[in-house]
Amino acid sequence: MYLRTMTLSHSFIFLFSLTLISTQLTTTNGVFSKQSNIILPSEQQTTEKLTHIHFYYHDIRGNKNPTMLQIIDTPQNVANGFGSTFMMDDAMTEGPELSSKHIGRAQGMFGLCSLHDIAECMLINMVFNEGKYAGSTLSMLGRNPITKQNRETSIVGGTGIFRFARGYAIANSVNSISTPEHYVVEYNITVSHP
Ligand SMILES: *[C@@H]1O[C@H](CO)[C@@H](O)[C@H](O)[C@H]1NC(C)=O
Repeated sequence: MYLRTMTLSHSFIFLFSLTLISTQLTTTNGVFSKQSNIILPSEQQTTEKLTHIHFYYHDIRGNKNPTMLQIIDTPQNVANGFGSTFMMDDAMTEGPELSSKHIGRAQGMFGLCSLHDIAECMLINMVFNEGKYAGSTLSMLGRNPITKQNRETSIVGGTGIFRFARGYAIANSVNSISTPEHYVVEYNITVSHP
């Protein structure tokens, strides 16, 4: 009983001081905006987890069960295929072979978005279906200069156990086993999350 009361009064004091702090830090700028400091659930904890995820994804093109489709074509006179846009739902696997364990799908779209070199803008949700990550997603957004290696994009958020996630992804084409119809990309993702 004593312990319980202590806990209660502690949380009351905690809540009270939170209210006090947030009231003090609220600033009003005219009528159109108001800003106040928030304490995210991730910051209430003293530690965050750092998770490293390693997988391969497979762009399957061509007529037979493609997992990647061009949805917008561009005129011939446009440099670097600028504007060409694709939709994908690629298998993510543990190893470089498509026959290795499937850990999820990389679903999203990307388009060639540079007039000056070959680079894509990526907008991809990684949907995990394996182990404790099953049902959780990570969202990736970034520039992907596909002719280079160690291409870095940002992980801008997530759902499920990846709520409040942030981090980065490093992508490398696996040229030794890729063909025009089956393109393999290795991904190393590093995220911190509560
Ligand atoms: C990706 O992760 C694997 C496995 O942890 C590691 O062997 C490899 O060096 C990493 N590659 C990059 C480019 O970070």
